[in-house]
Amino acid sequence: MRFAAIADIHGNDLALEAVLADIAGRGITDIVNLGDCFSGPLEAGRVAERLLSLAIPTVRGNHDRYLIEQRPQDMHISDAAAFRQLGPAHLDWLRSLPVDLIYRGEVYLCHATPADDNLYWLDMAVADGNVVLRPQAEIEALAAGIDAPLILCGHTHIPRMAALTGGRLIVNPGSVGCPAYDDDKPYPHKVETGHAMASYAVLEKSAAGWTAQFRNVGYDNMAMSALAGANGRPEWASALATGRMP
Ligand SMILES: [Fe+2]
Repeated sequence: MRFAAIADIHGNDLALEAVLADIAGRGITDIVNLGDCFSGPLEAGRVAERLLSLAIPTVRGNHDRYLIEQRPQDMHISDAAAFRQLGPAHLDWLRSLPVDLIYRGEVYLCHATPADDNLYWLDMAVADGNVVLRPQAEIEALAAGIDAPLILCGHTHIPRMAALTGGRLIVNPGSVGCPAYDDDKPYPHKVETGHAMASYAVLEKSAAGWTAQFRNVGYDNMAMSALAGANGRPEWASALATGRMP
């Protein structure tokens, strides 16, 4: 069994287009999407049209939830920018998404962690502003009760894989559309991949078990960077140009 996992598209339609072409070019037809599809100052409407027509298994991210839970006037500017491009069918699709699901009977999918769509699983922000590998015991505790041999999550935009007890593997494929960002909880921190390519992963099951291949795909990131700049978001423009924050 082989399939691709995409996550954290964040409205970057050119990155999504490039990733889908790369997946197709490898002869892979099955894809799952780990959420945070639209939020950002980019092309949410185009991404929505593409995702609705793809109809792939998708779990709801925290930013997807904000788009259907919050009043537009209360939204963060990244969510509000996406919301303005979405129509009723796109919002209905978001409302239809589960917070987690089991794919093909043996792959557990969620956006961030099983119980909290806004908590880093494999990583954690620390007081000095760095983001580091979470201690093994904490990763294990967050996986309690999930016995799927392969677990997929997104949210942090950092490609990462960790082995769990019982032979389980947990994989974050990284972000299709947003290679760097900052946040202020629980500590002010930056997440930076250090490159501007679109990330995803190929998951494959062999006799030895599940493995992950992390893929990075070049695309016209400077066009998306220019769009972010034109939309008044210089930090997004920097992230999309370089994979680093200003
Ligand atoms: Fe997220």
